[in-house]
Amino acid sequence: MVEKTIVTRYAEYGSMTELETCDRELCEAAIAALSGSYAPYSNFNVGAAVRLADGNIVIGSNQENAASPSGLCAERTAMFAANATHPGVPMRSIAIVGSQNGSICDGITSPCGACRQVMAEYQHIAGADLSVLLISSSKILKFSRVDDILPFIFDNLDK
Ligand code: THU
Repeated sequence: MVEKTIVTRYAEYGSMTELETCDRELCEAAIAALSGSYAPYSNFNVGAAVRLADGNIVIGSNQENAASPSGLCAERTAMFAANATHPGVPMRSIAIVGSQNGSICDGITSPCGACRQVMAEYQHIAGADLSVLLISSSKILKFSRVDDILPFIFDNLDK
């Protein structure tokens, strides 16, 4: 038996002004998307924004439902909307932000497993890295590719 270790690499930024312009715009779009969140059950609002290879940005927010499994996370709302409205245009990055009582959360809002798996799918069909930006009130974390937040990624589309 050999014990092994996985290292996760990511960049931490102290504020949005440190980001490249395209990433800053994407984070601003994710924050703006919070206004569309429908979260009367959890009172936890999430905004997401997807950057496409052609430069377009598509936003999404969490949409809850009285029958809770019928709701959807912000990330998947954004990614599904992006691929539905811009079919075949690769996704390059996604920014995510959580908010409670009108304020961006102090902690990072990290995507759930199902959303990570959907990111993996769109990264796969893009044929290039899809970066993930996680926004909190005090910092932004940037993962260069989905593999960095989803180790041992399930990806058997070619097999
Ligand atoms: N939620 C998201 O939209 N994205 C995440 O990454 C985590 C959780 C939503 C689902 C639900 O509407 C609320 O946050 C509380 O779990």
